[in-house]
Amino acid sequence: MAKSVWKTQYETGIPIIDEQHKRLFGALDQVQGAVLDGSTRAEIRGLLQALVADTREHFQTEEAIMAHHGFPDLLTHIREHELLMEKLDELGQRFEESHDSMALLVPTFMGGWLRHHISEGDFRYAQYMKSGQVAAGSADLLLALWDQGAITFL
Ligand SMILES: [Fe+2]
Ligand SMILES: [Fe+2]
Repeated sequence: MAKSVWKTQYETGIPIIDEQHKRLFGALDQVQGAVLDGSTRAEIRGLLQALVADTREHFQTEEAIMAHHGFPDLLTHIREHELLMEKLDELGQRFEESHDSMALLVPTFMGGWLRHHISEGDFRYAQYMKSGQVAAGSADLLLALWDQGAITFL
């Protein structure tokens, strides 16, 4: 089973995002290591919960950055984040209903998801920011999203 490791090819050039991505790969690797090392169920559960918290924090950071810069595909990107959170919830349930090794599905699934999402999704807003195409009406867009309940931060 491959280790979950951050590589320079995943670099967005936005320091806080790159730090959070490294942390997520590290958290996935910790889950995998704990299961393979025969850690207790409570330890594995704790690592899964920490991963979920780190993932949620990372998504909130990204969504705030994208909203702040008026990134046009914000809602599509938020939806992808939501689907991953739902999947993590589902995998967490399966772990609770089964044996410890079920936790390995988390690094397997999310490792692949993260590599793909960074390359296909996160790079888009990073590129948008670098190109300086910050929407003139970004304040209006933010307020519209706020009204729709799509974002809960301003
Ligand atoms: Fe990301
Ligand atoms: Fe993202």
